[in-house]
Amino acid sequence: MSINVKQLAAEKAVEYVVDGMKVGLGTGSTAYWAIRKLGERVQEGLKITAVATSVASEEQARELGIPLVGFGDIDGLDLTIDGADELNHDLELIKGGGGALLREKIVARGSKQMIVVADESKAVGTLGQFPLPVEIVPFAWEWTVADLAKLGCTVELRRSGDGLYKTDNGNYIADCRFGTIVSASELAASLQNITGVVEHGLFIGIAAVAIIGKQDGSIEIIE
Ligand code: A5P
Repeated sequence: MSINVKQLAAEKAVEYVVDGMKVGLGTGSTAYWAIRKLGERVQEGLKITAVATSVASEEQARELGIPLVGFGDIDGLDLTIDGADELNHDLELIKGGGGALLREKIVARGSKQMIVVADESKAVGTLGQFPLPVEIVPFAWEWTVADLAKLGCTVELRRSGDGLYKTDNGNYIADCRFGTIVSASELAASLQNITGVVEHGLFIGIAAVAIIGKQDGSIEIIE
């Protein structure tokens, strides 16, 4: 019988949460399990407050009775638990497969600690097999896409149904296929130089811990 490795990793991460913490709630199918477990612990009496990185996670938290606060009510977070699309041993991540990378990065950067939760398929030697999501403004998107392509990737604007996908912030996502990302920090700098780019899915120097669930039931922790 196959085990739910996303749930395994996510529930391990929730063990790091203690009374009084301000917690950032990630987005995606792995973060889902962390939010679910947190909801259970809140029902059992855990005292936390939380902010969410997407409308979907906010709705899930609200349904589970996790107390949510506004960003104006707190000046930072103790811990954020979030998934990743790829991660390497230096704890560099690709995020944004679910389209929430901008909010995820704001929340993770505003946290004393970010824990990444993932199944073993996400752990790679070199980033780049997963197309890097880049959030871009709709204005003149054609030029921004052309600038992205000059960095050596093939770019596909993310679609949703018959139209273009829009993020919770009303922007587009350009999925940039690099194949191999030799230096994540150099690429991040180049992406930041493109004016139409709002934010990109490379998370460098942000995650402190990665908890990886494996099919054999074990958990690998990278710190
Ligand atoms: C959301 O925008 C993403 O960054 C997710 O955190 C990431 O795609 C991981 O999602 P899964 O846990 O669903 O694979």
